[in-house]
Amino acid sequence: MRRRLLVIGNWKLNGNKNTITNLTITLVNTFCNISKCSVAIAPPVMYLDIVKRYLLNNTHIQLCAQNVDIHLSGAFTGEISAEMLQDCNVRYVLIGHSERRIHHKENDAYIAKKFFILKKVGLIPILCIGENKREYDSGCTQSICINQIKTVIKLLGIEALKNSVIAYEPIWSIGSGVSASPESVQMVHKSIRDYIASYDVSVADEIIIQYGGSVTPENVTQFFDQKDIDGVLVGAASLNANSFAMIVQTAEKHKKLYLS
Ligand code: PGA
Repeated sequence: MRRRLLVIGNWKLNGNKNTITNLTITLVNTFCNISKCSVAIAPPVMYLDIVKRYLLNNTHIQLCAQNVDIHLSGAFTGEISAEMLQDCNVRYVLIGHSERRIHHKENDAYIAKKFFILKKVGLIPILCIGENKREYDSGCTQSICINQIKTVIKLLGIEALKNSVIAYEPIWSIGSGVSASPESVQMVHKSIRDYIASYDVSVADEIIIQYGGSVTPENVTQFFDQKDIDGVLVGAASLNANSFAMIVQTAEKHKKLYLS
């Protein structure tokens, strides 16, 4: 996967058949000329198949799932497997989102198993990492993030990060309306890339590292302006077609060196 700006809309637990269909149709019509950046949307799993039908003739928007189980099949009531997601044309899958770490007590070892199963079937994991407010205040952001990645590398090896994505999302910023400063995010992203480079320079050069946390059309350019920020994971603003379209268009027009 070539490094390019990647914008993903995470719709979380929002919408119904009607609103999801309308939002999808609007985005499909808006994004027919997107070619420089990559775009994906992550609807609730119930609606993946509906959204897929509208995306069929549109290669510009990819499907992303919000979660996956660690098993491929069997007696695991309520779970969704990586192969089922693949069956629905899903390309990316969010794992380790802080809302799952917090509400479902998912830890790094469990998230690494999800990473493994996604690689096994050929889906692209978006490994979400980030610190909480207390960790931020005590200055351990970088070590928290590195440790979250280290668990995957220790279990699966550095090769697993090829064709994978990391999303740095400070927990205190998600849904708060307060984004982290672009300069501080750049520092975290650089430390992540340097850490990966200590294992393998080409994996570090290629990996997409997104930022997420109260991204809006107004603040997104400043994130793209930073050297090591390769895209954004957008929650609230992705539920509004206009806002999400503005963010994607900003990515499309951005003069990142690797876009040319
Ligand atoms: P937000 O969510 O944009 O609403 O802060 C981001 C996320 O949870 O991925």
